[in-house]
Amino acid sequence: MRMRRKKWTEPVIADCPYYVEAPSTHRGQWRALFPNSQKLWLEIGCGKGVGTVQMAYDNRDANLIAIDEVRHVLAVSIQNTKAQYGDLPVDNLRFSAVDATRIFDTFCKEDGIERIYIHFCNPWNEKAKHHKRRLTHPRQLMQYREFLQDGGEIYLKTDDSGLFLASKRYFAECGFQIVYQTDDLHASGFSPNYVSEHEALYTSRSCPIHFCIAKMLPSEFVQTPVEP
Ligand SMILES: C[S@@+](CC[C@H](N)C(=O)[O-])C[C@H]1O[C@@H](n2cnc3c(N)ncnc32)[C@H](O)[C@@H]1O
Repeated sequence: MRMRRKKWTEPVIADCPYYVEAPSTHRGQWRALFPNSQKLWLEIGCGKGVGTVQMAYDNRDANLIAIDEVRHVLAVSIQNTKAQYGDLPVDNLRFSAVDATRIFDTFCKEDGIERIYIHFCNPWNEKAKHHKRRLTHPRQLMQYREFLQDGGEIYLKTDDSGLFLASKRYFAECGFQIVYQTDDLHASGFSPNYVSEHEALYTSRSCPIHFCIAKMLPSEFVQTPVEP
């Protein structure tokens, strides 16, 4: 999703105490950016933060870092956070502009990230040579392995059955075990579920939502060679 930068983007970001500039300078020290020492989750490609903000608000016993490569959508997320939190301090949510293809620059094991959320990432279906741009491609999963805690989990939601099928294969190749899956999240009874902007859109078009939880196994479960 490419959005034109709006003129209010930078003032909103500059005025936001929970927006993190220069994310790679915090590598290994993200926990210090939160007042409460508690479990740490990461959402990659949060977009406008529609489900993100609700999830953080409802889970005050977790710290959540939400990243996207587009600063404008992060500014929209900040506006949504203000609307959700009102006068409450936003002490468990941080936003930052990070390109996930270089996420190894930003996080490492010392950060202690226990869970990753990837919701409605671009399926890059048009050409096979573009598959490596998927946020669930082995190229990405092997980076996530480098900083995810042992036994950590990736939560994936998508409307795209091709991406979902391929991602389950990528997970297996990269030493992740699918511990939960459904091809119709909203009929499954899985709870809690925080509906994202794209989830609402696809649901309004009667598209079922694919969802899985992939748990990271020890490195001996990584199949070699992993697809480059
Ligand atoms: C289709 S939108 C989904 C947004 C949101 N997760 C939702 O479900 O409504 C995909 C988001 O991923 C972000 N994105 C795509 N590639 C990325 C990358 N390499 N690093 C960080 N964010 C990325 C886009 O900017 C966009 O906001």
